[in-house]
Amino acid sequence: MARVVCTSYLFPDQVDRLKDAGHEVWLHQGNGRIPRERLIAELADAEALICLLTDRIDRELLGAAPSLRVVANVAVGYENVDIDTASELGIVVTNTPDVLTEATADLTFALLLTAARRGRLGFGMRILYHSRSRVEAAERDLDAEFVPFDRLLTESDFVSVHVPLTDETRHLFDRDAFARMKPTAILVNVARGPVVDEDALVRALEEGEIAGAGIDVFEHEPDVHPGLIRLRDRVVLTPHLGSATCETRRAMAQLAVDNVLAVLTGERPLTPVN
Ligand code: GLV
Repeated sequence: MARVVCTSYLFPDQVDRLKDAGHEVWLHQGNGRIPRERLIAELADAEALICLLTDRIDRELLGAAPSLRVVANVAVGYENVDIDTASELGIVVTNTPDVLTEATADLTFALLLTAARRGRLGFGMRILYHSRSRVEAAERDLDAEFVPFDRLLTESDFVSVHVPLTDETRHLFDRDAFARMKPTAILVNVARGPVVDEDALVRALEEGEIAGAGIDVFEHEPDVHPGLIRLRDRVVLTPHLGSATCETRRAMAQLAVDNVLAVLTGERPLTPVN
């Protein structure tokens, strides 16, 4: 029997799956984040942790959890987890890829359409993309064209951001990037707030370097740049809810629990990141 700590609500059927497998489950109850000291105390004898993006799983916390074997992050992104330290301590880290792609793509279109509500948009758009590696399926199935980042900026009417937050992508959209975009362009960000320099975005909107933005993620979440609120006639804001449909959240919880159960029974997790 292992002890599983969960930093927030977990669907009851998923709690039951853990209990049916013989594990003890401790859930943080109530609204708001779990206080860090409490989490550290609860992890003292825990073997599994199910957590959210808003939980900072750093060296101090991992070091205070000597029995921990798996951290199951209920998100596709995992920049909140110190992966190097987890690997060093032999702790498996997992995420929840794929199951949230459609919900997030839906929100991307919702933001794009809403931000473009002045009627410039037609479907049947030409698709340009830039990525670390080429995506052949997208080129074949969607007729998407791989272009250098600079061409993506200068030629696109809509620029939609879908990158993880890393040292390379932090402030990828800075003053220089906005200066290259079309004055009629709209930026959509459903990825990570810090990929966009929000001061530079506000300035680009104010100075007419770009026309609008649809933003789901913020540089200093949960705070929103006051300039974005002020410019509300040209921006559409949503509170980081790309994956927030019931169906998707259930699928994410199920995948996180699948990963925990796999590690606790000595099997390979479905979606490890280290
Ligand atoms: C959401 O932002 C995620 O990474 O799952």
